[in-house]
Amino acid sequence: MIDLFEPQLLGATVPLKNRIAMAPMTRTRTSEGDAPNELMATYYGQRASAGLIVTEATDVAPSSKGYALTPGIYSEAQRQGWRLVTDEVHRNGGTIFLQIWHVGRMAHPSLMPNREAPWGVTEQRAEHSDVFAHDADGKLTYTRAGTPRRLETDEVSALVGTFSQAFANARQAGFDGVEIHGANGYLFDQFMNSVLNTRTDQYGGGTVENRTRFLIEVVEAAVRELGPGRVGVRLSPFGEYGSMPADPLVEETLLYLCEQLGRRGVAYIHLVYQLMPAGNMESIEFKERHIDHALLAKVRAAFHGAIIWCGGFTDRESAQAALDTGLVDLIAFGRPYIANPDLAERLKHGWPLAEADQSTYYTRRGHIGYTDYPVYSVAREAR
Ligand SMILES: Cc1cc2nc3c(=O)[nH]c(=O)nc-3n(C[C@H](O)[C@H](O)[C@H](O)COP(=O)(O)O)c2cc1C
Repeated sequence: MIDLFEPQLLGATVPLKNRIAMAPMTRTRTSEGDAPNELMATYYGQRASAGLIVTEATDVAPSSKGYALTPGIYSEAQRQGWRLVTDEVHRNGGTIFLQIWHVGRMAHPSLMPNREAPWGVTEQRAEHSDVFAHDADGKLTYTRAGTPRRLETDEVSALVGTFSQAFANARQAGFDGVEIHGANGYLFDQFMNSVLNTRTDQYGGGTVENRTRFLIEVVEAAVRELGPGRVGVRLSPFGEYGSMPADPLVEETLLYLCEQLGRRGVAYIHLVYQLMPAGNMESIEFKERHIDHALLAKVRAAFHGAIIWCGGFTDRESAQAALDTGLVDLIAFGRPYIANPDLAERLKHGWPLAEADQSTYYTRRGHIGYTDYPVYSVAREAR
């Protein structure tokens, strides 16, 4: 039986000090040019007692921007900003992977270069989904995602090269690895959904090989840049976030992908297994969505790397019970990490958890609700 505080060698390459991961969370605290900064370095550095930190979703290119104030990894200033973050985490003994995404149709012309249309697998709009973009007066607000332009086949292939450059930048910025964001209704998920993806080219939804091709090509590029033990993939089968249609072939796609990722030596699959965000970022709600244990056992059989489970874990007992199923290797905590920088220590000692203020999840208010949550010993003294 694996203990939550047992170390692990991820991908036979990256030593982790425990089985606790900090889940990726967008926090909109970037500086000019979507560059990370000292404040973000402090935030991630405060959380370095997690076995693995996965950063907030990071734009692979300007065309990938679905929400204002998210960071990028394509400019020199962004690379230098991320270097502040990785140095601080490493100084504090932590391990950090960069989550990289392209939002695809979950964007808005006001955020796109030259106000062009969002990039889509097809021209189908995410009808019921909002993004954080500029209104007619230039004010940031939640607004319906735009109608996308369908990417040409050679544009999809070219995007693989764009990801490749981002992986090289991530390595140079000092990351221990990258997590490719294949979850939550963004571009990879849009390609993989057999209902949404009505394309008929080599990236088309009609066969499992074609609808997973883009993700697999990007994974291969990541493995070339960083080595297999330093690449993870996040997936959210059954997720509806981003107006994703229910997909009758979801299990076929998932298991095929697990097998293919295993063959390429991917270090881990990160499953958003229990709770999916619904609604928009302003009024985020979490809906129960279970991957049942029978399906998870099939994932386990198909993929020999590590499996991370995320969603709804709030204490040591539930995390340990999940590890005790033998079906997963690490437990990721999202929201509990917002108000508990020392979450790992609190779980270890049975100390109470602080509650986060949801109004500061995404905000321009800098350190407030971000780096000002104290560790438990300080919080106790203050009482
Ligand atoms: C403020 C916030 C921002 C999030 N941003 C991201 C993100 O950038 N990338 C991602 O894959 N998931 C993101 N998520 C989803 C979380 O990683 C996680 O799957 C979800 O919060 C459920 O886990 P929890 O119950 O431990 O919070 C975000 C969630 C929250 C609350």
